[in-house]
Amino acid sequence: MPASTCGETSKTTAAFTLNALSQIRFVWKPLVFIACLIPAILVLTDALEITGRLGANPIEEIQDRFGNWGLRFILAALTVTPLRQLSGWNWLTRFRRMLGLFAFFYVCTHFLVWLLLDQRLLMSAILEDIVERPFITIGFTALLLLLSMAGTSTLAMRRRLGRRWQQLHNSIYIVGMLGVWHYWWQVKLDVREPLIYASVLAALLGYRLWRRFRKSR
Ligand code: HEM
Repeated sequence: MPASTCGETSKTTAAFTLNALSQIRFVWKPLVFIACLIPAILVLTDALEITGRLGANPIEEIQDRFGNWGLRFILAALTVTPLRQLSGWNWLTRFRRMLGLFAFFYVCTHFLVWLLLDQRLLMSAILEDIVERPFITIGFTALLLLLSMAGTSTLAMRRRLGRRWQQLHNSIYIVGMLGVWHYWWQVKLDVREPLIYASVLAALLGYRLWRRFRKSR
């Protein structure tokens, strides 16, 4: 191939990649961002009785909805890598940080509802709950881990922490396990829903272990 044709081809490829990247940044990312906000908007509009109602125990309902969405976003963030590896859709990686930050957002709102509406900021009751109710202790530990990941999720922090960044962000596996455990523990009878979360998590972690095992062989 003549040098000029080769140069043109690489220019065309570069322009295509740039176009795809700006499409992701300016079209798809804002759309996914809005979609991720919908559960929170629905809680608000249900509380205002525009789209529905919150039921007999509104505080519990709001807290449960945020908790569930927190867990779903943790699992969604964990799904990115297997889905990318199986499908070859490398662009999926560009959405992982957003999904992780939305997990943090929903877990924070879940925690804030508990702190402000359930405990009414009563310090003694808060500490007692965290220390004496194991499922709260587990949830709180998961929140602290998520906080450390959200706080170091920027590119600048990634560069600064180097290899330690990946080690820290691998805590998402532990957060997933703690989140499912936290849910399972506070369920009284019907474990069907936590069982679904546990199965999805087991599949996602199992896939990673299987990849590691295959690589090592
Ligand atoms: C990664 C962190 C967390 C996740 C993924 C999570 C998720 C969940 C889920 C899925 C539920 C069950 C909702 C339902 O019954 O449908 C729940 C319940 C609950 N969570 Fe969390 N949670 C987390 C952290 C916390 C923290 C930090 C606190 C408070 C310190 C907390 C307090 C509670 C309480 C009190 C309930 C029971 C609510 C009720 O009475 O129905 N959670 N959580």
